[in-house]
This record gives sequence, C-alpha cells and structure tokens, in this order.
Amino acid sequence: MKTILSLTVNGHARDDVVPDNMLLVDYLREKVGLTGTKIGCDGGECGACTVLIDGRPRHACLTLAATCGGTDIETVDGLSKDGRLTAIQRGFNEKLGSQCGFCTPGMIMASEALLRRNANPDEDAIRQALAANICRCTGYVKIIEAVQFAAKELAGGELATGELSQ
Ligand code: FES
Ligand code: FES
Repeated sequence: MKTILSLTVNGHARDDVVPDNMLLVDYLREKVGLTGTKIGCDGGECGACTVLIDGRPRHACLTLAATCGGTDIETVDGLSKDGRLTAIQRGFNEKLGSQCGFCTPGMIMASEALLRRNANPDEDAIRQALAANICRCTGYVKIIEAVQFAAKELAGGELATGELSQ
C-alpha cells in the first residue's frame, strides 16, 4: 500500500507517494535526497537519525514517513541559512564537538531542540536532552561544551566566528 504524503521538509512543502512501510529516515535520505540524517544502528539505539518533527526531536528510524502528513520536519541539512551556521553548529565547530562526525547530525538536532525550549540549560539539562544520542568518540565533554558555547552565543556572550566560507 502507498500513501500520498504532504508535509514540509526544512521549510519546503512537498507531496510524495510513499510506501506505507517506508521509514522517515529512508524517505529523507532516498526520496528527498537529504543525507545529513544518519542511520547508525538497527533501530532506536543511537540517535544518529534524530530529526525535529514539529519542533520535537524524534528518531527518524522509528517513525513511518506515512504518519508524518501535515508535519513540519527539520533536518540538519536545513539549519544553516545563507551560508551562515547556527549557534549550535558553530558550537560543535569551535569546541571540537565532532570527531568522526557520525553522531553529529543527531546531536545537533537534539541540541537545537533543547536550546529552543531552554536557552540557558545547565549541564544536567544538556546531558538529559542528549541521553538518547550515543557518541563513540568524544566522551561527551566536548559535545556539552559545544551546547554551552551555543547557549552563551545566543545570549550574546560569545563571538560568532564560525561562518561558512564555502
Ligand atoms: S539510526 Fe535511529 S536510533 Fe540509531
Ligand atoms: S564523533 Fe564519532 S560517534 Fe560521535
């Protein structure tokens, strides 16, 4: 069975015919062509596939695309605007919150959701918000520093230095 899926992805309205059993992560990567969202596990364990659905972080590997009609999906691919990184993207860059980078898209989207609802999270709040996201490389300290950097920058306390040059 197939469904006509009408939704918004990174601000762009779309209508697509999708199999009822197609996962949101496969829809985004294969149908929409947005490969920023990663698949890191057999399902529901790592958080690499985290996207925002109506502003809330969700595992795209556990979500059927056909259930997303009428929603607003945001992926890491759509965060930067006019070549300028968002505060959380600059945070990961400045604080070296990314090593192999595989977890980074999910970490960034979960962090972005946190900062939208809590502009000044303490370390516990950051750890809690990222509890569903696994990183094998960084030991998490640099990731937490990246979120703290972004929070400070959003509050006007850090210099914005991470603009894209390409
Ligand atoms: S790929 Fe979705 S949680 Fe790992
Ligand atoms: S940077 Fe490698 S898994 Fe997080």
